[in-house]
Amino acid sequence: MANAHLVMVTVVVLLVSLSSASASASAISTKQQKQSLRFSEKGEFRILQVADMHYADGKTTPCKDVLPQQFAGCSDLNTTAFLRRIIAAVKPHLIVFTGDNIFGFDAKDAAYSLNAAFSPAVSSNIPWAAVLGNRDQESTLSRAGVMKHIVGMKHTLSQFNPPEVDNIDGFGNYNLEVRGVEGSAFENKSVLNLYFLDSGDYSTVPSIPGYGWIKLSQQLWFRNTSKKLERAYKNKPEAQKAPAPGLAYFHIPLPEFTSFDSSNFTGVKQEGISSASVNSGFFTTMVEAGDVKAAFVGHGHINDFCSELTGIHLCYGGGFGYHAYGKAGWDRRARVVAASLEKTENGGWGGVKSIKTRKHLDNQLLTAVDAQSDVVSQWPIS
Ligand SMILES: *[C@@H]1O[C@H](CO)[C@@H](O)[C@H](O)[C@H]1NC(C)=O
Ligand SMILES: *[C@@H]1O[C@H](CO)[C@@H](O)[C@H](O)[C@H]1NC(C)=O
Ligand SMILES: *[C@@H]1O[C@H](CO)[C@@H](O)[C@H](O)[C@H]1NC(C)=O
Ligand SMILES: *[C@@H]1O[C@H](CO)[C@@H](O)[C@H](O)[C@H]1NC(C)=O
Repeated sequence: MANAHLVMVTVVVLLVSLSSASASASAISTKQQKQSLRFSEKGEFRILQVADMHYADGKTTPCKDVLPQQFAGCSDLNTTAFLRRIIAAVKPHLIVFTGDNIFGFDAKDAAYSLNAAFSPAVSSNIPWAAVLGNRDQESTLSRAGVMKHIVGMKHTLSQFNPPEVDNIDGFGNYNLEVRGVEGSAFENKSVLNLYFLDSGDYSTVPSIPGYGWIKLSQQLWFRNTSKKLERAYKNKPEAQKAPAPGLAYFHIPLPEFTSFDSSNFTGVKQEGISSASVNSGFFTTMVEAGDVKAAFVGHGHINDFCSELTGIHLCYGGGFGYHAYGKAGWDRRARVVAASLEKTENGGWGGVKSIKTRKHLDNQLLTAVDAQSDVVSQWPIS
């Protein structure tokens, strides 16, 4: 009986989404792309976060902040080599680039730099997604132009902006759904929701200089999307207290990243928190929505900590790129998130049970550090 109910609800949801998608061919392809992410047959989904590649011209662009004996022969190509190795080692199901993908000031040709920066992801055939930082538009393409270029690249699930919204601030606000294991009761449902937002570049308010922030229009879209996904996920509201968990990815840390010190975070803080000079309320918006369990940012290259505030983990990716400022002798790094599904009594797969995170260093062994198992633990069984 419960199963029949579930199938019916699923069919209705599918019909609704199909009829709205048929409005345009691009909406259909968007829908198909969203459907292509799902948990593996082992009930796992791994996301590799790459923060701040700061890619410029390739071989002729030198490394910054490496040990004196490491400068010779060190360039953007070291960033490329790290990306190739980490993809091969982690075998992620999705690669997420959290902005400052290119360092515009030093890039002669933005399109060339973008192609070179993302090429290991493209040639891996693994789906990838990107958002913009505050540096991506400082070369030959505008912010809109950079996002348009990214959206046109191979194997990317990045989107220019949500097709259902007419006016939204920024470029590269979108969400992706990760479905349950094929053949399971959740095969047509998103059990993990990913949100990507443009956290802006610089403030345009003369009296408040500094970095940009996530605007009201983006927060309204996020709230609507979160509600819509929650309705689609729940089939027995009385049995299911919580919506499917969500993860948010953007570039600039929220002011709430200042809520921690070394007594209550995992990782390190070696520089100040460069958030926007105003708090636009996105943290509170996420708390109210209830589904987002963690937000992952870049921007600060030598901070890599992760800690929880009011039910939401706030995590830095840790600087990845060799042309980005860093700290000599402190390895470039990347963050991995691994989500696992609940195994049901009959041997099938349910919703998300746990979400863990760790980082990998760019050393010979790609050493994993700071494993945290508490991003989401013991998610309620549906
Ligand atoms: C950069 O790459 C070169 C060539 O593979 C390598 O010899 C060098 O050790 C790398 N530098 C760093 C800092 O990883
Ligand atoms: C998922 O959708 C497919 C195609 O519409 C359908 O054949 C299948 O029965 C659905 N699975 C569940 C668990 O509802
Ligand atoms: C959010 O949803 C409301 C109510 O359905 C709608 O009026 C509004 O246009 C939506 N806004 C955005 C930004 O999606
Ligand atoms: C972390 O610890 C500091 C004191 O060392 C405290 O001021 C702060 O509120 C704590 N943060 C959280 C989120 O618990």
